[in-house]
Order: sequence, then C-alpha cells, then structure tokens
Amino acid sequence: MTEKSSRPGQVLLSVRDLHVAYGKAEVVHGLSLDVRAGEFVVVLGRNGAGKSTVMHAISGLVPKRSGTVSFEGQDLTQASARQIVQSGIIQVLEGHRVFQTLTVEDNLMIGTYAKTPRGDRSKLEAIYDLFPELAERKQQMASRLSGGQQQILAVAQGVIGEPKLLILDEPSGGLAPIVVDRILSVASALCAKGLAILLVEQLVEKALKHAHFAFLMETGRVVAAESSAEIGRGDLLHRVFLGGGEPMTEMESK
Ligand SMILES: Nc1ncnc2c1ncn2[C@@H]1O[C@H](COP(=O)(O)OP(=O)(O)OP(=O)(O)O)[C@@H](O)[C@H]1O
Ligand SMILES: [Mg+2]
Repeated sequence: MTEKSSRPGQVLLSVRDLHVAYGKAEVVHGLSLDVRAGEFVVVLGRNGAGKSTVMHAISGLVPKRSGTVSFEGQDLTQASARQIVQSGIIQVLEGHRVFQTLTVEDNLMIGTYAKTPRGDRSKLEAIYDLFPELAERKQQMASRLSGGQQQILAVAQGVIGEPKLLILDEPSGGLAPIVVDRILSVASALCAKGLAILLVEQLVEKALKHAHFAFLMETGRVVAAESSAEIGRGDLLHRVFLGGGEPMTEMESK
C-alpha cells in the first residue's frame, strides 16, 4: 500500500485492520482507512472489491469479524446501527432506496428520526432550500419521481438527519451525468460547511474532481491511499480499473 500524503485535520473516522466475512468467505482482509474533519474522501475500486461491505461494516449493518471502528475518538466497533447513526454517521445506501409509497415530505421526515425519535418538521425548510427540486414535489409519492430525483431524495434523507459524516455509496448508480454532478456538487457544498463526506464511486474522474483524498481498493484491501491529485497522476489507478477491462472514464462507466 502506498501512503505518501500528509493530511490536515483531526481524524474523525478511523477504521483499523477490518476483516469482514459473509459466512466463511472473508471479503475484507485487514483494511484500514480514515476520514478527517472537513474532508471529502472517496473509496474507489472495481465491482466486488468490497467497498459497500466496508461501508456497511462502518455503519453496523454487517458484522465485523475483527478490527476496530472509532469515530471522534469513541470506539464504535461493537455499537449497534442505531448507536452509530446517533453518534453522527449516516449512510445513504447504494441504489437510491427511499420509501416508494410515501410522499417526498414523509421520506424526509423519516430522515429526521435519526436525530429526534418523533421527527422534526423544523428541519424541512433548510432541506428544501438545499434541494429545491424536492420542494417542488413535496407531496408527490416517491414512486412518481425519476431515478435521479429518488437518489436526490435519498441523499436529502441522509442530510436531514444532521450527520457529522455522510457516507454515500455509489450515488451515481445508473443515473444521468447531470444528476451525478448535482449530487457531488451538493456533497462538496456540504463538505465546505463542515460535513465530512465518505463517498464510494466508480465514476473515477468525477469523484476525484470533488474529493480531497482517495483510497483505492482491490479485493478487500486498500492498495493506495493518496490525495486525489496524486492518485489521479499515478498509474496504479489506471491499472486497477483498466487491467481487467473496467472502464475508467465517466463516458464509458456503468
Ligand atoms: N450479502 C452477501 N452475501 C455474500 N456475499 C456477498 C454479500 N454481499 C456482497 N458479497 C460479496 O462480497 C464481495 C464484495 O462485495 P461488495 O458489494 O462489498 O463490493 P463493491 O465493491 O461494493 O461492489 P460494487 O461496485 O459492485 O457495488 C463480492 O465478492 C460480493 O459478491
Ligand atoms: Mg457496492
């Protein structure tokens, strides 16, 4: 693994020597990564590298075989998914999962439960300012939204829970480039206001444009940890993505 860069800021999230298995099959083999305060970090890697598994392990959605996860110095290794959310880590899952039979506004209200068990309507206005496309559709059923709008709703549902770290797992999945740009721009704007971002993305060029720091994964391991500029210049990234025929440019990507 190459780690050349020195990074400013306090460590917010620290994952150390993480191993995760599905049954007997271990798919994450001693992975370490961190996110610092105010940072936009991207995890890159081919399909099946284990990116979502790592995010799920951080969020407490899959069990860890071994290793540690800490956040703001607090050990979360044994914490439940609920406790992890309450400590300030919110994950937007892969595949724009929102409640299809609820309205946009009700989906957002569910997002507020992360902070307040009874929900908090006072958070809606700020979210509508951030996502005017949702304000226009607040009473529409989520199922009536386009895929891009549903993904924006999924991101907004995470943001309204007021995380300190927002995990976005492939927000681009199958969406038009303009929607991807919109989501990554909003993430960057939130990051500039102090929210740390941990993004999983296959659209390498778009992701590196927004991220400060990148971890490159191959089959359950981190093989490079560098600033976005450094990793973009190196040939390892190209080898990992192009070696097996995986497209690197956004034009060609899935
Ligand atoms: N629920 C599961 N049960 C068994 N194996 C799983 C499960 N989820 C993922 N895997 C396997 O674990 C490995 C890592 O999968 P993971 O979904 O974490 O990869 P990924 O990097 O997120 O891939 P993608 O880019 O396709 O989303 C793959 O070999 C996958 O087949
Ligand atoms: Mg995945």
